[in-house]
Amino acid sequence: MPSTKAVLIIGGSGFIGSHLALRLRDGYKVFATYFSNPLRIRGVTGIPLDVSNRNWVKRIVYSSKPDVVIYCAGNNSLEWAEYNARDTERLHTGGPATVSTISDILQPKFIYLSNAYVFDGNKGNYKEGDTVLPSSILGKTKVGGENFIRGKAFNHIIVRTSLLFGRGNGINTSLIDDLRMKFETGQRIELATDELHSFAPISAFTDFIVRLVDSGPRNKTVHYGGLTKLTPCEFARAFATRFGYDPALVFEKKTGPRDESMLVETQTFDYSLNSSFIVETLKVQPLLLEEGFDLFEKSLVTRL
Ligand SMILES: NC(=O)c1ccc[n+]([C@@H]2O[C@H](COP(=O)([O-])OP(=O)(O)OC[C@H]3O[C@@H](n4cnc5c(N)ncnc54)[C@H](OP(=O)(O)O)[C@@H]3O)[C@@H](O)[C@H]2O)c1
Repeated sequence: MPSTKAVLIIGGSGFIGSHLALRLRDGYKVFATYFSNPLRIRGVTGIPLDVSNRNWVKRIVYSSKPDVVIYCAGNNSLEWAEYNARDTERLHTGGPATVSTISDILQPKFIYLSNAYVFDGNKGNYKEGDTVLPSSILGKTKVGGENFIRGKAFNHIIVRTSLLFGRGNGINTSLIDDLRMKFETGQRIELATDELHSFAPISAFTDFIVRLVDSGPRNKTVHYGGLTKLTPCEFARAFATRFGYDPALVFEKKTGPRDESMLVETQTFDYSLNSSFIVETLKVQPLLLEEGFDLFEKSLVTRL
């Protein structure tokens, strides 16, 4: 029987937000916000919202009365963040502060999506207790958001997740959408070789978040990532090989500007995350890349 629990997804029209809305809609009352791309998912109430508009945030929170808020607004691109510093700060630090402060009176569970750029990338295989030392604007603003939530949200979980892959929603395209489009039209694809990530499939990630909606630790930071560590360039080649595209279309590119003190020409930044805490406490099973590709293949026969 569907639960009467209300879940408010901030950033519901995004890649992650729309997957979460689809996954949650059968079991919960789902409200999902959009900013510039109206959201139309059957069984989900789409609401326009700008996290900078405090009065409107208040109205939406008070009218939806969420038991759980999932904050997944904001762009996850390092490069975009460097060129849009003010918006990045607004989305990853100011936004979560506004939404959590306003919703505090209702005491919902607040799930904040963070990422691996909170670390400096010098070590890799990061555990929850490792020191954060971000070298990018994106990482710094994520740390800002995390600190606010940790200090002020009464009942929260911060989920640092590795790069996720899966189908986009047709509006906010995903890495895989871009790859497929370029492979199919024979276009050159340039991707970073100086960053390592523990890529994970979106469908397994949404299953994990659904578990957190109902249970899971309280006031904790947890890591979620896959078991295979590779660069975006290697990921694209592996994807091509698995799905019958031409890996020779993939070329190497250095990532965009970063804190100058961290720029060492030959350095590879390892942002892989260690998920052993959720494996031990929640029995979550992180996946190998091939297992993630299997899940992606299955999703091709399901309508989004
Ligand atoms: N994708 C990943 O692999 C990954 C990994 C780790 C962490 N994360 C984090 O997860 C979050 C979502 O990532 P994503 O890949 O799903 O991003 P995305 O596809 O770019 O979606 C971003 C969402 O934020 C909304 N948004 C933009 N400006 C807004 C504003 N001013 N007020 C309210 N909402 C606004 C967008 O709305 P419109 O589209 O309607 O404009 C959209 O719903 C980000 O915080 C990201 O850092 C992502």
